[in-house]
Amino acid sequence: MRAVTIPQPGGPDALVWAEVPDPEPGPGEVIVDVRASGVNRADLLQRQGHYPPPPGASAYPGLECSGVITEVGADVAGWAVGQQVCALLSGGGYAERVAVPAGQLLPVPACDSVDAAALPEVACTVWSNLIQVGRLSAGDTLLVHGGGSGIGTFAIQFGAALGATVLTTARAAKHDRLRELGAAHTIDYREQDFAEEVRRVTDGRGADVVLDIMGASYLGRNVAALATGGRLVVIGMQGGRKAELDLGALLTKRASVSATSLRARPLAEKAEIVQGVRDEVWPMVTAGAIRPIVDRRLPMAEAAQAHRLVESNEHFGKVVLTIG
Ligand SMILES: NC(=O)c1ccc[n+]([C@@H]2O[C@H](COP(=O)([O-])OP(=O)(O)OC[C@H]3O[C@@H](n4cnc5c(N)ncnc54)[C@H](OP(=O)(O)O)[C@@H]3O)[C@@H](O)[C@H]2O)c1
Repeated sequence: MRAVTIPQPGGPDALVWAEVPDPEPGPGEVIVDVRASGVNRADLLQRQGHYPPPPGASAYPGLECSGVITEVGADVAGWAVGQQVCALLSGGGYAERVAVPAGQLLPVPACDSVDAAALPEVACTVWSNLIQVGRLSAGDTLLVHGGGSGIGTFAIQFGAALGATVLTTARAAKHDRLRELGAAHTIDYREQDFAEEVRRVTDGRGADVVLDIMGASYLGRNVAALATGGRLVVIGMQGGRKAELDLGALLTKRASVSATSLRARPLAEKAEIVQGVRDEVWPMVTAGAIRPIVDRRLPMAEAAQAHRLVESNEHFGKVVLTIG
């Protein structure tokens, strides 16, 4: 098969479409012939050599895909050759074929089968962090940073579908589209202090849950933006990894700060998250409350171009790489 390889870490041109050995299904795994794979920020870090695949994962980038099952390994129940699926991966999505643990497979929800490749990583990340960690529920106020990202466009739709009031930060050019997705209020992080804005629009109350992708540079203001009993969930460190935390501010609010990463979690935890997404998120897709937001599709052999686009932050939602 062919896959996007990284012979030497570096810029987008470090991605090389090359002939490589086919994957074999291990026990509990299936082989998926890939139709499409979503691009994630983490793939850029992997390409640069900053985010090595966890032990046992494919060396090729790609944390999600859609396609068709073409082989079923030992000890797999409930999945068969010929089924259209999408999948959460710990790597290897940028390839013609990939081995997938059966617990990370999902049926294609009620959307186009190529666009379905844009859903598993964001759905699993957002569901696990907003529901399992953030305990988001109807009536809460949710602040989503980076609303125009793959994660953000999904989190806004999910929060709104759940009945939360969603506030979001993004560059101004993306605001109209974010309101169409369900954001009640958009904040231009380049011009406004988001913590002040959150307090202003909530009459001083603050946000019950903050989904953060910036890390260090936003820590102080995120705590300031929290309501009493609020939950700050950090999933990205685009603004650095080390910052001072005012425990007094946290203590007074009886608030919490958590941080999680999906990729290196044990198989059983990933399977539990995938099941949660199937049970709780897929019905929202069927109901039309959530759809994959795909900025554009590019042929997988042009992965370098896709990485340039995502690096520029000009994209809205996801970029999807396709085969065939
Ligand atoms: N922990 C996990 O398990 C996990 C899983 C998936 C993703 N993530 C993280 O989630 C983040 C988003 O991933 P993605 O693939 O969806 O990214 P993406 O589509 O590449 O988007 C990155 C976004 O960052 C925004 N941004 C840049 N500076 C900002 C600032 N100062 N304030 C607010 N937003 C800012 C950009 O928005 P503008 O264009 O508006 O500037 C852009 O939309 C990444 O940090 C990624 O590592 C974590």
